[in-house]
Amino acid sequence: MSEAIVNIGLLATMDDGEGLMGLIRDAAVVIEDGRIAWVGPSSEAPASDTAFDAEGAAVIPGFVDSHTHAVFGGDRSAEFDARMSGAPYTAGGIRSTVAATRAASSEELAARTQRLLDEALRQGTTTAEIKSGYGLDVETERRLLEVAGRFTDEVTFLGAHVVAPEMAERRAEYVDLVAGTMLDTATPLARWIDVFCEEGAFDVAETRRILEAGRGAGLGLRLHANQLTQSGAAALGVELGAASIDHCTFLSDEDVDALAASDTVATFVPGAEFSTRQPYPRIDRLRDAGATWAIASDCNPGSSFTTSMPFCIALAVRDMHMTPSEAIRAATLGGAQALRRIDVGRIVPGARADLVLLDAPDPVHLAYRPGVPLVSRVWRDGVVTDRWEHRAG
Ligand code: NIG
Ligand code: FE
Repeated sequence: MSEAIVNIGLLATMDDGEGLMGLIRDAAVVIEDGRIAWVGPSSEAPASDTAFDAEGAAVIPGFVDSHTHAVFGGDRSAEFDARMSGAPYTAGGIRSTVAATRAASSEELAARTQRLLDEALRQGTTTAEIKSGYGLDVETERRLLEVAGRFTDEVTFLGAHVVAPEMAERRAEYVDLVAGTMLDTATPLARWIDVFCEEGAFDVAETRRILEAGRGAGLGLRLHANQLTQSGAAALGVELGAASIDHCTFLSDEDVDALAASDTVATFVPGAEFSTRQPYPRIDRLRDAGATWAIASDCNPGSSFTTSMPFCIALAVRDMHMTPSEAIRAATLGGAQALRRIDVGRIVPGARADLVLLDAPDPVHLAYRPGVPLVSRVWRDGVVTDRWEHRAG
């Protein structure tokens, strides 16, 4: 069965076409067996079994959200409320989510993750990475990875989120546990390993040890770096060949140059700056240096409780000084690059048929009309859906 989406006013392919979004005007896309079979001018679209008329609206690739912590229990709205009254954000809040997460059954956790991903899908997200990190003991981390794996193959082991509360006085032992037994348990369930390298979490030497152990076990590397301070984390991530270093709120000029000279992606999570009242990093230096960057939601109960990639795009444009084209590209193709994927984030023949129809004539509306639900239809693997299901690959 093939379906043609015809009469697309502006198609953002993120590939060949006009400008950074690879725009094609008056375009059509043909979908077959869950993949994109053809892309081009609507007037030249080949015959298909069915057709959907986009009536001149814009179509973009589904968003690739390369950084979420979407498996957790509890609620931290009181902490947010206190922060908005002047309390600072610290890594310590993670521990309250750990207690609630340990107390929740896997089925409860999975039901909550399902709701979050359904919410994300309805806002255009079709690929999502999910981290563990609110278990911090071997059994709970294993459960979180297992739950994450019900929803995505982009599963990340984040046992090194903070030191487990019951081991606060024994941090060297906790690092040994993460790099040892916990990693052994996580490896069959994860594709990636991540560390929160920050004051109050793990220092550069501990981070190196854990990432090297993960790499030795065959996992790809990601890193929470330079979120609250300008540490050596970003440089370490580049040195170790991480696929992505995430947050990057405080980067030195040397960090930017190192990123630009590497194939490590800088992933920005402006929802975290929003929810923690931190300064937004500016994109100018990365643009000038020629670095590659992505935008992700960082969906988590502490520092960024949003699933909305359109919201993150609007923040990146307004407050990080990205152009709308740069931000939309970062939320699609950029996310795919941060996950080292070539089958998502672009509308090209052979890619997964993950497409978002906007209730707008131009993708720029995603930033121009902040807070407005512009996603009117989502195809995931070629199927129109509003419920997140696991898919292989
Ligand atoms: O990405 N930085 C570390 N982890 C999360 C926050 C976790 C939390 O506060 O619960 C983040 O911002
Ligand atoms: Fe995070």
